[in-house]
This record gives sequence, structure tokens and C-alpha cells, in this order.
Amino acid sequence: MSNPQEVHVFVPATVANVACGFDILGFAVSRPGDEVIARLCDKPGVHIKSITGDGGRLPLDVARNTAAVSALEFLKHIKADKGVELEIIKKMPLGSGLGSSAASAAAGVYAANLLFGSPLEARELVAFAMAGEKAACGTAHADNVGPALLGGFVLIRSYDPLDIVSIPAPPSLFCTILNPHLEVRTEDARRILRKDISLKNAITQWGNIAGLIAGLLKNDIELIGRSMQDVVIEPERALLIPGFSGIKQAAIAAGALGCSISGSGPSIFALSVSVESANRISEAMKEETDRLGISSDTYISPINLDGPVILSKR
Ligand code: HSE
Repeated sequence: MSNPQEVHVFVPATVANVACGFDILGFAVSRPGDEVIARLCDKPGVHIKSITGDGGRLPLDVARNTAAVSALEFLKHIKADKGVELEIIKKMPLGSGLGSSAASAAAGVYAANLLFGSPLEARELVAFAMAGEKAACGTAHADNVGPALLGGFVLIRSYDPLDIVSIPAPPSLFCTILNPHLEVRTEDARRILRKDISLKNAITQWGNIAGLIAGLLKNDIELIGRSMQDVVIEPERALLIPGFSGIKQAAIAAGALGCSISGSGPSIFALSVSVESANRISEAMKEETDRLGISSDTYISPINLDGPVILSKR
């Protein structure tokens, strides 16, 4: 079968860090997500035809655009003799902590790979999407682009060399996300972090991340819940999110296994074990946010095991 000339793909939002796994753990949700339409063209390189849904805020410059950078790195890698034209359809809020730049980066390279007959597997595309992430926020972390491309929970065991491990998760897990209508730039949320941590905090964090992974693998819901504690990053970043502690308390009181900042914030996520519980948590988080006079959106989703979706190709 010949390669498609045009593909339209959807790539989901992701929750990075998952409380105690700063830069090393993330999972994909079903929605929201970003879309990219990519077309083969004779002119080598990547060309951005349009960006919609971003309010004119994202760069049209190929060297600075996350989707274009990831696609371009891929084209260089395969020594492509043709180029790719991109239409980027933003459907996710920027600076939300939901992996917006990662979804676009992953969509750019995922679509480009399809146009060239899928020479690389999704796992091999992660490094290219990381280059896109770096263009967007200055660091090439993989805890959003990994799950965006592979679906499910993804552990970044090592960055150098890149070692990515998919972690199975209990099918009953549901995620509630509250996205307050505030913007936090990942770059800023990283800059404020202390560069050193105490041995005491490191031991607590190691115990929790190991416990969380063990809980996911063993389908031990209680263990997942009590491991979702972040003593390193959350206390510092919580200061960027007005009302964080009250919203978290509301989620826990409504039955969440655990609740923390999604990625670099300001979105807040909570895990639970049924859609009913996820709905109750969503209402409680929203009520508290409304009480503070902050407008917000909520999303409820199972863990998305599929990752990217091909919406159409021709
Ligand atoms: N791990 C990254 C961070 C994710 O927390 O800065 C950014 O969304």
C-alpha cells in the first residue's frame, strides 16, 4: 500500500510527574488533545501552513514551533527527500500543565512518520518530540511526550541513554482534571525550583515513586493512593496556584486516592477508581475553585492506553 499524502492526527493531553515522579513519570488522558494535519510536499523541510485555536500566540517560525521542530528532526533523521506542510489545530489551553506543547510536538512527528510509511515505531519518535518540547520550554523532558506518543503510564528510567518503560495500570483508574483559567509557563515553573534537595526528602520521594510504580503493577489501589505524595516539587509550585491546598483537600474529601499538580500546573489532577467517584471529585474541586472566584474547566477520563489517533488519511 502506498504512503498517505495527507494525515490528520489527534494526540492526547498528558499528566506529567504524577505527584512524586518529577520529569520521570506521566500518563495520557482521553481528552483534551491537539490535532495536526500534515501533507507531503516537494519542497524539503517543514512548512507551517496555519495554526488555529491559539489566539495567534504560537510561533509560525519553524525553528521555534514545537510541532515543526519535532517533524523537522525526524525528516533530518530519515534523510527525507520531500518536505512536510503542517496545519496545527490547537484544542488545548496553553500553559495549562496538560502537556499542550508536548501534544503538538508528538503530533508533528507522529504525523510526519505516517507520511513516510512509518519507518520508526512510536517509541522511537519520543526523542524527536523531546526536541520539540525543548523548543517550547527550554528543556527536553519526556514525561509528557512519552505518554502522548505511547499512551498509558510511561516511566522515563533514564534520559541518557533514553530508557522508556511502559507501566501497566489498573483498568479501574479514572483521572479528574481541574484546569483553572490561569496560565503558568513551564519555563517559569521550572526556574523557581530549588536545585538541591535534602537526603531526608529524597528518601521520602524515592519511597513514594517506588510505591506508586509497585501499586500500578500490583493493581494495589491503596498503595497507589498513599504513594501519591510529593515532598519536593509540589510545595514549591503550589505557591503559583491560588487556592491549591483547598482544592486538593476538597478532592481528597470527595474520595480521591491522591491529588497533585498536573505537570508544571496550574491544572490539578486527582485519581480515583470509578467514573462516579471521578465525577464527585470534579464537582468538589470545581465548587472550591468557584468559591475562590476562579473560573475553570474540568475533564474526566480513564487512563488513555491508545495515545495518538489517526482521524483521517488519504
Ligand atoms: N516534568 C515537567 C515539569 C512537565 O514538571 O516541569 C512539564 O509539563
